[in-house]
Amino acid sequence: MRARRRRTDSAAEPARELKRFVRAGPARDMDVSIVGAGYVGTTAAACLADAGHRVVAIDTDASVVDAINDGEAPIHEPGLDELVAAHAGDRLTATTAYAAVAGTDVTLLALPTPSAPDGAVDTSIIEAGADAVGEALAGREAPHTVAVKSTVLPGVTAARIGPRLGAAEGVHLATNPEFLREGTAVGDFTAPTRIVIGADSDRAADRLEELYAPIVEAATPEPTVLRTTLPAGMMIKYANNAFLAGKISLINDIGNICKAYGVDAYEVAEAIGLDDRIGRRFLRSGVGFGGSCFPKDLDALRHAARAADYEPTMLDATVETNDRQPERLLELLDRHVDPAGERIAVLGLAFKPGTDDVRHSRAFPVIEGLQDRGAEVVAYDPVATANARAVAPGIEYADSAAAALSGAGGAVVVTDWDEFAALDAAFDAMARPVVVDGRRIIERREGITYEGLTW
Ligand code: UDX
Repeated sequence: MRARRRRTDSAAEPARELKRFVRAGPARDMDVSIVGAGYVGTTAAACLADAGHRVVAIDTDASVVDAINDGEAPIHEPGLDELVAAHAGDRLTATTAYAAVAGTDVTLLALPTPSAPDGAVDTSIIEAGADAVGEALAGREAPHTVAVKSTVLPGVTAARIGPRLGAAEGVHLATNPEFLREGTAVGDFTAPTRIVIGADSDRAADRLEELYAPIVEAATPEPTVLRTTLPAGMMIKYANNAFLAGKISLINDIGNICKAYGVDAYEVAEAIGLDDRIGRRFLRSGVGFGGSCFPKDLDALRHAARAADYEPTMLDATVETNDRQPERLLELLDRHVDPAGERIAVLGLAFKPGTDDVRHSRAFPVIEGLQDRGAEVVAYDPVATANARAVAPGIEYADSAAAALSGAGGAVVVTDWDEFAALDAAFDAMARPVVVDGRRIIERREGITYEGLTW
């Protein structure tokens, strides 16, 4: 049997190196407010405090505010706890009071912009936040820069956010899209490939450059700072995510064809990745993409395209291919097991390893497909079980992968947690050792009926 090379090929998606978590650099002169302490807001707050700024994080959730003030990150993100612990109570504070904005020079809006049922971006939360910031800034004489970090469609910042902030009265607007990935957020924020500033004035752009200067100076290689217009700033974010998601769906399409012809899609990806017009990264085929960004941003862009009388065929196909992958995984299971009445283990619930985030995780369509087949589903994830339970309460959750596999008549792998690569003996405790791998994390070996989704 041929040994598989897992992470030596184009599968490798390296985290940017975390050179140091806590920097004892000099304090800088900027006072920054960050509205919304979710993944992006908390990461930005902690990293900008680490870069030397005085930062206040504003969130309506008192438990999030208390956590930050107690020196704890309110989310699971490697390296974030250390930064929050190092700077809380000093350069980093948190409050539920929007009035704190008035004491700062720059505000970053990092509030959620969820999808409405028709795919449009629901801007009600960020609009309400902008109203509150506008109120806090009313009567303030000194100019203030407000940058929209949340993802909103081009045009929204000028038309719907600016007026709420009192844009005519000394408030300068900017868009400042964030490209960080969950699980490597601190490294991505402190060593970005580029910083995009869309601004309606030189003043706003200058202030943001000043804000990011310590990060730009410290990062190697030095990130490119790109200045553009307000709407282009946001279009860059959508285009970036559309390209990345499209790359995954294209390699999944190719991968499904590879599987039909007995070809290993990872060997193909390794070879085509050497063409630097294609590049090696984001060529991991499997059960598809999830998360808080790709699905939502694709829906928003497709909706915006149709609103402009344009049929976005490539973007539609990206979503369609992604939606089909979970069912393809289960069709491979069907080849070996009739799941009806069988105990089937689902390994992984997070949308990717390194996070407890289950938003748009491929685990849910997989679980639904198994339930439709009449299977008794038992799932395991090292950190995302509590979040998954809230979405899919009707299944059994195991405390370990070994417990999930014990007695199971089949297993499907949805998330490429490293610990799944070391499961070897646990498969022997299965009633029927059939493993369908959606992420190329399990080693193919004697004694297991192994199917890779695209290999
Ligand atoms: C993504 C973008 O990378 C980031 O720039 C943007 O700011 C937010 O969206 P994130 O959602 O944190 O970041 O995760 P990412 O690591 O990009 O993975 C997204 C999804 O694609 C995951 O479900 C992952 O499993 C999947 N993926 C990624 C693949 O299926 N194959 C790949 O080759 C790469």
